[in-house]
Amino acid sequence: MSHLAQSPAWKALEAHQKIVAQFHMRELFKKDPCRFEKFSLHLNGMLLDYSKNLINEETMQLLLALAEQAGVKRWAEKMFSGEKINTTEKRAALHTALRNPSRKPLDLDGKDIMREVQRNLDHMRRFSDAVRSGNAVGHSGKSFTDVVNIGIGGSYLGPLMASEALKPYGSPYLRLHFVSNVDGTHLAETIKPLNPESTLFIIASKSFTTQETMLNANSARQWLLARLPGEAAAGHCVAITANPKEATKFGIPANHVFEMWDWVGGRYSLWSAIGLPVAISVGMDNFNELLAGANLMDEHFLSAPLARNMPVILALLGIWYNNFFGADTYAVLPYDQYLRYLPVYLQQLEMESNGKRIDRAGEPVDYATAPVIWGEAGTSGQHTFYQLMYQGTRLIPADFLASCETHNPLNEHHAVLLSHFFAQSEALMQGRTESELKADLDAQGAIGEYSEQRAKHETFPGNQPSNSILFKKLDPKTLGLLIALYEHKVFVEGVIWNINSFDQWGVEAGKRLAARIRSELTSNGKTGSHDASTNGLINCYKLYK
Ligand code: F6P
Repeated sequence: MSHLAQSPAWKALEAHQKIVAQFHMRELFKKDPCRFEKFSLHLNGMLLDYSKNLINEETMQLLLALAEQAGVKRWAEKMFSGEKINTTEKRAALHTALRNPSRKPLDLDGKDIMREVQRNLDHMRRFSDAVRSGNAVGHSGKSFTDVVNIGIGGSYLGPLMASEALKPYGSPYLRLHFVSNVDGTHLAETIKPLNPESTLFIIASKSFTTQETMLNANSARQWLLARLPGEAAAGHCVAITANPKEATKFGIPANHVFEMWDWVGGRYSLWSAIGLPVAISVGMDNFNELLAGANLMDEHFLSAPLARNMPVILALLGIWYNNFFGADTYAVLPYDQYLRYLPVYLQQLEMESNGKRIDRAGEPVDYATAPVIWGEAGTSGQHTFYQLMYQGTRLIPADFLASCETHNPLNEHHAVLLSHFFAQSEALMQGRTESELKADLDAQGAIGEYSEQRAKHETFPGNQPSNSILFKKLDPKTLGLLIALYEHKVFVEGVIWNINSFDQWGVEAGKRLAARIRSELTSNGKTGSHDASTNGLINCYKLYK
């Protein structure tokens, strides 16, 4: 068994939780007028307010002791310096190098990777400029109007989320599309309205062997071949991969292959050429701003003391509820339509990184690791799952996010949106008491309708914890800051849980199982090699199809 749950820092937190569980945040705010100042941090136009949490100063000290015990700073230095901290794959995790503007060489296995990074960025600039200006043309001389990114997991979610978040900065002449699912419907419906003469496909796959992506890429190529003459298809495809040999075999010309490296994990790859769709949409200057924002967070993460360190604070609060209050889930609630893909992006980032049950030493863990991440853009979520947050039986920690300025100043939409943003975290924390219900009824002239029975249904305890992340405006730099904040949060949690956040063996195993079943679907006769349910399902499919 792992030693973490036996450690003094852990035991102290367990004992402290029993005391804090009796607190109501409403009282904590009443007692301490400086609570907001104490429990909030600013960084480059971004505020993290973590005062609406079930914490006091002692909680934070005990949590910080846990971070100290785990050697968070030491691990951060290992990661940034290129140590092979992804031990099961014998790889470094150097996504931070991709956004480091310094030309200072960084040696990895005898190569200065910073040169490679710069070469790749130059390639991205040349290509994205050409597509944006209309100088990059398809076979018949038409400029590209539609760019289809084919990729899955990290080769999909990062560029999808970021290009949507930065839509106001996007070129009005280009439309981006994303195909990830192997369900033919995804590709078919995406390309149905497109003109092959002005369509560019980006085949994004670090491995260039992922079944879904390769099948989609082959079908896209067939679509081109059926509509364009001879060898034209090649000029309509580019590849982003760490496996250029396979890309060449696929027929992509060498100058259309963008490099990637094994030291960049899929879910951390937005900052590499995987970000090409974003660069094509918003331009390389804005893409560089995105990198600059992430680099700012890197600098903060490396230099700020643990107690004033945003990613560390977020991680510790996540651990507080996950491991000491038994919260199984974590909600991400962006009050910004442009951030609507943030919850799904963070699902992969956190759940693929920290969904682990074996620690670094190969021992099973006896504590919970990553929670289930979920969420939805506000205010839509308020009319689906907030009821459960208000009056259900579960503790659900949440992050609320919003920008002060909107890109779309339409009537009073933004003021109304923000009023909901402020109100939800307040109400979830405060709850609603009987006297508040009475006061509300009184104000409506309906106090006569009050009854004890009614009070039981219309009051709620509150005390639901949340963080609020408020920024000036959702611009490229702020987005970079925000994504890197969550990357480092996930990293710190992984360090404390003593797991490898950079591998994903479970997903790899799932891929192999599907490959075996694939051949059984077209073989003659009944299948009998699985459990009765799986056999029954496969045989029913064979009968029905
Ligand atoms: O989901 C598993 C995974 O390996 C992810 O980590 C990765 O982002 C995704 O598959 C896609 O992999 P590739 O870029 O190699 O196609």
